[in-house]
Amino acid sequence: MSAVHICEVGPRDGLQNARHLMPTEAKKAWISALAAAGLKEIEVGSFVPPKLIPAMADTAEIVAFSRTIRNLKVVALAPNLKGFQRALDAGAHKVTFPISASRKHSESNVRMTPEQMVEEVRRCAALPHAGVEIEGAVSTAFGCTLQGNVPEDDVVRIAAALAEFCDCVALADTVGYANPVQIRRIFSRVRKEIGGKLEAAHLHNTRGLGLANALAAYEEGVRHFDSSLGGLGGCPFAPGASGNVITEDLVFMFESMGVETGVALDKLLEARKLMAKAIPQEPLYGHMALAGLPRGFRDAA
Ligand code: COA
Ligand code: ZN
Repeated sequence: MSAVHICEVGPRDGLQNARHLMPTEAKKAWISALAAAGLKEIEVGSFVPPKLIPAMADTAEIVAFSRTIRNLKVVALAPNLKGFQRALDAGAHKVTFPISASRKHSESNVRMTPEQMVEEVRRCAALPHAGVEIEGAVSTAFGCTLQGNVPEDDVVRIAAALAEFCDCVALADTVGYANPVQIRRIFSRVRKEIGGKLEAAHLHNTRGLGLANALAAYEEGVRHFDSSLGGLGGCPFAPGASGNVITEDLVFMFESMGVETGVALDKLLEARKLMAKAIPQEPLYGHMALAGLPRGFRDAA
């Protein structure tokens, strides 16, 4: 079965929503441990106003450090032109932009309408950015705690607009509303519109359907997944948003199916211990970490 590519988003999506700050040096050790476990892409932070999200204040230093790790694609989130410029200055390999399909979430999250945000990303993409990949992530693509229903036509239209100038487009279930049937339907609709530019599924496990949705996306042809160690995560500007799909459990699911992830589960659990030590008050999730590997387990490689 064909391999999947996992982007660990804990240092960004996880820490932006954590109640406690992780010290910069601990972030560096954690990112090193994640890379040592075989993760080849890590979203290490975001370039947002530090006053808004103090946990992301050290992102430039974290990006610079992460660039020293061999074969690691260093990703940072930017919400606007200023964030994009900061990401370029810091040397991020890839910049991801959140474009909410929900009008209400867009206004709460980036103080722009979805249309204004698409134009903001267009302006960024028009700047020289040799060698830097741009991802447009359509957030709240499966529903929104502020707006409720998000019309699928809005998701398709925004994805198609982003595909004109982004290198790749992701669909995000920011608040964990998606179900597997919906995942298949919307990924399939968007793929018909933008083909191979549709890449990642960014899923949250808020209602326990993270893995089911990941499997549905896989069956729909998706091979890029975002996830976070220990299931940290959530958007501070989307009420009720909680943890991402859990990296350890996602890796276990794929490896046990014979789908290579390139990630070593034992080392991933070491990275989890390191993370837990750095933010001891934070609740962590995940079945793999509790139950351990089944006797006789063999990974896909
Ligand atoms: N990084 C650092 N500072 C920034 C910035 C950025 N990316 N963007 C704006 N600023 C600064 C401005 O320079 C200005 O500073 P000043 O008051 O000293 O002059 C101040 O922030 C306000 O700028 P403005 O352009 O009016 O921004 P805003 O207040 O309308 O906020 C966003 C808009 C997009 C910056 C903000 O809503 C945001 O960062 N959203 C992202 C939230 C997030 O991370 N969500 C979770 C991930 S999806
Ligand atoms: Zn998220």
